[in-house]
Amino acid sequence: MFEKAELMYEGKAKQIFAVTDNPDLVWMHFKNSLTAFNAEKKDEMDGKGEVNQKIASVIFRFLQSRGVETHFVDQIGDRDMVCQKVEIIPLEVVVRNTIAGSLAKKFGLAEGEDLQDPLTEFFYKKDELGDPFLSDEQALMLGVSDSQEELDEMKQSALKINQQLSEFFGKMNVRLVDFKVEFGRRPDGSILLADEITPDSCRLWDKETGDKLDKDRFRRDLGRVLESYQEIYSRIEAQWQEYL
Ligand SMILES: Nc1ncnc2c1ncn2[C@@H]1O[C@H](COP(=O)(O)OP(=O)(O)OP(=O)(O)O)[C@@H](O)[C@H]1O
Ligand SMILES: [Mg+2]
Repeated sequence: MFEKAELMYEGKAKQIFAVTDNPDLVWMHFKNSLTAFNAEKKDEMDGKGEVNQKIASVIFRFLQSRGVETHFVDQIGDRDMVCQKVEIIPLEVVVRNTIAGSLAKKFGLAEGEDLQDPLTEFFYKKDELGDPFLSDEQALMLGVSDSQEELDEMKQSALKINQQLSEFFGKMNVRLVDFKVEFGRRPDGSILLADEITPDSCRLWDKETGDKLDKDRFRRDLGRVLESYQEIYSRIEAQWQEYL
């Protein structure tokens, strides 16, 4: 019932197409590429687009059932998704439960220690600058967002997503260490969750073994990258059938 039209944008992980006769929608194709460190490290992996589309679709359905508004409209075949078209707010909204990645590096902290409370951070989506951290005041100065209220709404929504996803992954014996989301604006100015939530955008550690089941396997050359993404999907299949 949806028909893919012209390519509007090609990113590192997805292609965004128009949808015939429906200017309010986009057609999102999940690529098999994997990139890290601002695309300095790249690879192609057969099956990666498919597993990410499946994981993202279940997560969007689950979040919607828990009252989080998302851009997800429909899953199309194995590699594609139809979503509401939004104006992406150029911020990566990060939520952390456990110290890892850039937070560990920046402050010389050991990875793996739980934070007392979840921490939210904004990064400016600008590849040329390497997506730098920015404060709320800097986001307002740059005009990335026009109000503190909108920034607060994104943080609150990200924290709600964190609560829901911690439960979601917890049931699968997976620890949600941290994740990144993007929000978009509808034409009426209201915001909703956009882009994707997949092992590319989360840190997911097995609760028992501590095994990494996310993009750090690729970043750090740990091997079994696709197998780990597939492991996440097979645990989803075992635990969350109502959302498949
Ligand atoms: N519902 C949506 N409507 C319009 N654009 C969207 C929507 N959801 C996601 N996008 C945007 O589509 C692009 C998806 O492609 P991809 O994730 O491959 O980009 P990327 O390489 O990470 O680059 P970017 O720095 O632009 O995010 C991103 O720019 C993302 O912000
Ligand atoms: Mg992206």
